[in-house]
Amino acid sequence: MKNLTSMLDIQKADTSKIDQVDFNNLVFGQVFTDHMFECDYKNGSWQTPVIKPYGNLSMPPSARVFHYGQAVFEGMKAYKDQDDQIWLFRPEENFNRINKSSERLAIPEFPKEYFFEGLETLLKMDSAWIQKGFGNSLYIRPFVMATEAGVSASPAGEYKFMIICSPAQAYYSGEVRVKFSEKFSRAADGGVGYAKAAGNYGAQFYPTNLAKEEGFQQIVWTDASTHEYLEEAGTMNVFFRIGDKLVTAPTSDRILDGVTRKSVITLAEDHHIDVEVRRVSVQEILDAAKSGELKEMFGSGTATVINPILGFGFKGEKYELPKIEDSYAKFFKDTLMKIQYNEAEDKFGWRH
Ligand code: COI
Repeated sequence: MKNLTSMLDIQKADTSKIDQVDFNNLVFGQVFTDHMFECDYKNGSWQTPVIKPYGNLSMPPSARVFHYGQAVFEGMKAYKDQDDQIWLFRPEENFNRINKSSERLAIPEFPKEYFFEGLETLLKMDSAWIQKGFGNSLYIRPFVMATEAGVSASPAGEYKFMIICSPAQAYYSGEVRVKFSEKFSRAADGGVGYAKAAGNYGAQFYPTNLAKEEGFQQIVWTDASTHEYLEEAGTMNVFFRIGDKLVTAPTSDRILDGVTRKSVITLAEDHHIDVEVRRVSVQEILDAAKSGELKEMFGSGTATVINPILGFGFKGEKYELPKIEDSYAKFFKDTLMKIQYNEAEDKFGWRH
């Protein structure tokens, strides 16, 4: 195995941009730190990785990524505790998932030691960008794209793996209500829904825009074959509280195996909350909303953490959820964040 620390090429930025940033008024994903990680794949292997000043790329217009969307990404966060220690949350999950996504898009696997050495070195170099305090974090975006020139519809022989970082607060700045999709789906069986493929997210913008015109912030996909079952939202997995039971759809070819989703399920089981991982029909949620049994809905994801969903719409009807004391959403958000910020025992070994 190569010793990466000694072969990682580090080019430090001459000056930092950090003084230009208002950390109290961050819009998600707009500002990036001083450095980025970059590693090229060519001639059948990953080349010497480099950390260099954040900046533009130069690529041929015929690069495969622009034509066939051969690109996958991840979302992670780094947190700073009161003693200035920096923590990642279950990063192995993201590492494994980016390679799973890559496999589906015929992108070569990225080596683990490159990923972790590169990420940890980058975080140390840009550690001043990670602000302390609940709700502050550094959003980390690893991604891979096909850079080889040429528009033949075949997998590229050249790729670029990168990591860029952006200081973050909340993902959604306001209330979230969702529209249950009547005809749009994230993916079909055999498709790429389980992968964090760039195209899965690009394809949600149009249906989400339509939902926004009706006053919703997000869409909840329904299954491609019947549109009777709820799958996941545009940027998060979705949970329903029916009575005191927590219900969420199982992962599949079509649904992302979210790290926050699986953490919520583990925490629910650990706190003896009755959690069911099974198909959830639109009709079941409509019935539960009408009978008052639907107590809560919330989304889970790295960027959004746990986001309460205040209402939903389906076929022109709008449903508002009751205001609730002791919500599960609040419980899971607090419990997760205490683990992430090193303020609670980490009995599952999730902190890194
Ligand atoms: C994340 O939660 O990290 C995601 O990938 C959602 C993203 C599309 C903002």
